[in-house]
Amino acid sequence: MLMRQKSQPKNEQGAESTGSYPRTRMRRLRQKSWIREMVAEHSLSVSDLVWPVFITEGKNQREYIKSMPGVERRSTDLTIEALKKAHGNGVQAVALFPVVPDKYKTMDGREAFNPDNLMCRAVQEIKNALPDMGIITDVALDPYTTHGHDGLVEDDKILNDETVEILCRQAVVQARAGADIIAPSDMMDGRIGAIRDSLESESFTDTMILSYAAKYASSFYGPFREAVGSGAFLKGDKKTYQMNPANADEALLEVALDIKEGADMVMIKPGLPYLDVLHKVKETFKIPTFAYQVSGEYAMLKAAAEYGCLDYEHTLMETMIAFKRAGADGIFTYAAPEIAKTLQEKSAKG
Ligand code: PBG
Repeated sequence: MLMRQKSQPKNEQGAESTGSYPRTRMRRLRQKSWIREMVAEHSLSVSDLVWPVFITEGKNQREYIKSMPGVERRSTDLTIEALKKAHGNGVQAVALFPVVPDKYKTMDGREAFNPDNLMCRAVQEIKNALPDMGIITDVALDPYTTHGHDGLVEDDKILNDETVEILCRQAVVQARAGADIIAPSDMMDGRIGAIRDSLESESFTDTMILSYAAKYASSFYGPFREAVGSGAFLKGDKKTYQMNPANADEALLEVALDIKEGADMVMIKPGLPYLDVLHKVKETFKIPTFAYQVSGEYAMLKAAAEYGCLDYEHTLMETMIAFKRAGADGIFTYAAPEIAKTLQEKSAKG
């Protein structure tokens, strides 16, 4: 009994802040939906969501992605249609990932900084059609290289500083096309500072940077690589630049460096398996912190649901609140339109 009292939580004055049974019954606050919601510590809002989409060349094109049921590659016109619908349900931001035709892939990924590339055209068209939608663009070379790496390769080594120079040019053409947020996902050292300087010197002083600061070398990216068509090209793995899943302290160092270099926001990726990292980062730095529920996480939910193992919608919503509880300000999720609809139906019911 004494032991138990000793371990009770203390409030700021050091007094015990909990009572004991039966005066304290934890279930009193769980009796009805209204009271559960009234005392809820966290909530999810549609404005927390970012929808990642895959864009292809052409018009009226729509392709199914085998490993991501319910997700499609779409040409820009169909992407705009889908975005209008999602925006109508409250989704306010989109993250664009281009599916680059093989003929534009090179060793050095120079298509990345072609101001007329698929990404830049899509940004312009989406901005025109939906001026209130936030547009986030991916900065990395993997969709544009014949080897599928995020940087330049020489003798099987990923070159850092040479890659950063290209990333700066890529960021500037995206900003010029109208991107609101530049999101480097490449994990080269020093790229945030270099990109910030390039944007400043080209007068893109208001263009925001969301750094994929703690991005792990994860097998959960498998379906994404199928979606953008980089998987078949990828030689080797990304372990010399993406983080080791065994490390958490290192993520704090990555984030600290990126903040110093001028990141406005940071990302932890993947999502659910790395909630501890997300929590530590948010607690330590108190800056806008994002989680990415990546392709493999989405695929697991979909596959388990299709197999009859779990209820998709409820499990999905539980993952969302788990991100919020861990400290996420925003969440990238392929399910953003479905979640927006669920939230809307919930608020309509009252
Ligand atoms: C590559 C990139 C990846 C993802 C976003 N940008 C994959 C990778 O690093 O190989 C993964 C997203 C997902 O799995 O949903 N720059």
